This record gives sequence, C-alpha cells and structure tokens, in this order.
Amino acid sequence: MGNVYVLDHPLIQHKLTYIRKEETGTKEFRELVDEVAGLMAYEITRDLPLEPVEIDTPVTKATSHVIAGKKIGIVPILRAGLGMVEGVLRHVPTAKVGHVGLYRDPETLKPHEYYFKMPNDINERELIVVDPMLATGGSANDAISSLKKRGATNIKLMCLIAAPEGVEAVKELHPDVDIYLAALDEKLNEKGYIVPGLGDAGDRLFGTK
Ligand code: PRP
Ligand code: URA
Repeated sequence: MGNVYVLDHPLIQHKLTYIRKEETGTKEFRELVDEVAGLMAYEITRDLPLEPVEIDTPVTKATSHVIAGKKIGIVPILRAGLGMVEGVLRHVPTAKVGHVGLYRDPETLKPHEYYFKMPNDINERELIVVDPMLATGGSANDAISSLKKRGATNIKLMCLIAAPEGVEAVKELHPDVDIYLAALDEKLNEKGYIVPGLGDAGDRLFGTK
C-alpha cells in the first residue's frame, strides 16, 4: 500500500513559506522550488540500497559503500514539474529524465496529454514523478498510468503541495505509489486551486501571468 509522507524538515518548511507568499517574484520562486526539490530528493532517496566496494585511500585499503546499481529516472509533469528537475539532478546526477506533457483544462479540470518521451528502460528504473502541485490528482494519475502502460513498476510521486482530494485520488488509483510532500493543505477551491496553496505553479515559475 502506498504511503504519504510529509517532509517536515525545517529547511523545507522555511523555504516553502517564501514559495507560498504572493509577493515572491519569479526569480526567487524558481530558486526556492529548485532548492526544496533538492532537499526533498535528499530525503526520499534515503532507502536506496548500498553495496560495499574495496578502495584505496591515500592511507590504506578500505571497504566503503556506493549506491547499488539502482537506476533512477526523474519524470517532470510539464510544465511546472520542470522547476523541480535540476534540484533532484544535483543529488542524483546520473539520473535519466523523461517528460510527460499534461495540461489541465481550466473548465473541466481534466488533464490532457500532449507529450510523452521516456528513457527506453523505464521498466528497470525507480521513477520519481515530480510536479509542484497535486490538486484533484488527475494529472498525476494520468502521468502514472501512462508510465505503467509503458512498463514502469517502481514509481514515487514527489510534490510540493497537495490537497487531500488529490492524495486520495492517487491512493485509490495507484495504491502502490508512495507520495512525498512538503505540505498537505486544507482543500481545493471551486476553481480547483489548492487552499492556501501557492497559486498557479507554472505561471509563477515561468512568469506567464
Ligand atoms: C498544474 C500542476 C499540475 C496540475 C495539478 O499544471 O502543475 O500538473 O495543475 O492539478 P490536478 O491535480 O488537478 O491535475 P497545469 O495543468 O496548470 O499546467 P502547467 O504546468 O503547464 O501550468
Ligand atoms: N495547479 C496549480 O498550479 N495550482 C493549484 O493550486 C492547483 C493546480
């Protein structure tokens, strides 16, 4: 059964406050999303398996540890998920990056897929799907379903802010997927925005409002 983890590290919570603030401009917003994504990646890769290797230090031979051949893939949901990619890559620089393009129809709130490009071995990778916002859950559910249809079996979902409705929707359709959040907010409003949330993540990241 998939679990929901709210990463309550003080650095994450502090930076999230500035991400939420209306007066935070595009440059700072983008930098903070990148930083929080990096901190979250650090937390969620805790369970990566290690294996021993024999090395020579300048002083002696030693047994040390490296990550045990686990292949990671980062999957941003376009557009806003792009803002979280570099932060994860800073800690996992050899990860491959696949892209799912989805936009939410403002009337129906239903997601529409317009792009899908993955590394060809997603069935062998641990995939981290990244998107700042988990609102109704429609976009994340579609992205995860598309990945599973192409053979992915090991998927984590990492979002900055979620509404309870989105978490429930993902848990119901994809009970095998662990969800990692910086915050679980109160609710969705009548326009499908997360309350209190941060507004439109894509517009704030790319300055399109
Ligand atoms: C936002 C956000 C998620 C989606 C969440 O993207 O980045 O992908 O909405 O909403 P949901 O959980 O109700 O599906 P949006 O569709 O606004 O596209 P954008 O990233 O291109 O701005
Ligand atoms: N997408 C956003 O960018 N923000 C929300 O609050 C909900 C969906």
